Amino acid sequence: MKNNRITELFGIEYPVVQGGMVWCSGWRLASAVSNAGGLGLLGAGSMHPETLLEHINKMKAATDKPWGVNVPLMYPEIDRLMKMIIDEGVKVVFTSAGSPKKFTPMLHEAGIKVAHVVSSSKFAAKCEEAGVDAIVAEGFEAGGHNGREETTTMTLIPQVRKATTKPLIAAGGIASGEAMLAAMALGAEGIQAGTLFALTEESSASEEFKKRCTELAEGDTMLCLKKIAPTRLIKNALYTKLAEAEDKGATADELREILGRAASKRGIFEGDMESGELEIGQIVSAIKTIKPVSEVMKELISGFEKAKERVALL
Ligand SMILES: Cc1cc2nc3c(=O)[nH]c(=O)nc-3n(C[C@H](O)[C@H](O)[C@H](O)COP(=O)(O)O)c2cc1C
Repeated sequence: MKNNRITELFGIEYPVVQGGMVWCSGWRLASAVSNAGGLGLLGAGSMHPETLLEHINKMKAATDKPWGVNVPLMYPEIDRLMKMIIDEGVKVVFTSAGSPKKFTPMLHEAGIKVAHVVSSSKFAAKCEEAGVDAIVAEGFEAGGHNGREETTTMTLIPQVRKATTKPLIAAGGIASGEAMLAAMALGAEGIQAGTLFALTEESSASEEFKKRCTELAEGDTMLCLKKIAPTRLIKNALYTKLAEAEDKGATADELREILGRAASKRGIFEGDMESGELEIGQIVSAIKTIKPVSEVMKELISGFEKAKERVALL
């Protein structure tokens, strides 16, 4: 693959980012992605600062390739976390779920490259004002927390491309070389994949969660919890309770009560398939086997090259 602004910005071989993911992306997954030529991100969202420190140290031992940390900005101890990231010499931070205005200057001062995740052109323009180094535009197919407006990747990427001159990474529904090529045809210079990497051997999600995911068909995930934070969930007993409560006009507090404590840990990490919160993207229905990251990356890149040759013949 040719180098572009994303490979150059992060010093990576392929413009492929493994999105930070609660309960999935610890040092094992992130270092495997970095060692395979992409950019692995530790997902700080599900880690206490002490746990993140442990993962940062293991990461330093597991790879000498570039890697980073994903920080959802609603993190409760955000100031402490950011200080630790700076003190530990982390080189790349991907922020999400909040405004990049406050922390980007501080991270830049420490020599850290900053990318921020958005779900609309309006937020992309705000990222440009905040001076981030790259923008991740994430469509509503994606796993995890989603944009309220339900804009799909196909609709979002070309419009964000027009709204900003910053290096652009597409996310949401990308789990093959063909989809990667499509995202780049729309104006992206790299991709961020979550679902694809959540379902690898190195992901720290429970075996129960991974198995359930490989059995899903189209339509088995739905967006839910708009009153708290729109989240794409697998339809299970918890989802049914939440959806019924939402239909009856439940308040955010009532929904929180149904969710209970640590719902995503219970579901993704501990493998409680019925009462846990099971976050995954729409493209899950295309993934049927759990493979090592090295194989997934090889298939992604060779699929991209083959699709490019095919398109050249059109
Ligand atoms: C289980 C799971 C957990 C996620 N957790 C986070 C998170 O903590 N922070 C974040 O910015 N994005 C999170 N995401 C979104 C991913 O980083 C990525 O942008 C998204 O999965 C891309 O869409 P895809 O799932 O269709 O590949 C999560 C996604 C999944 C599937």
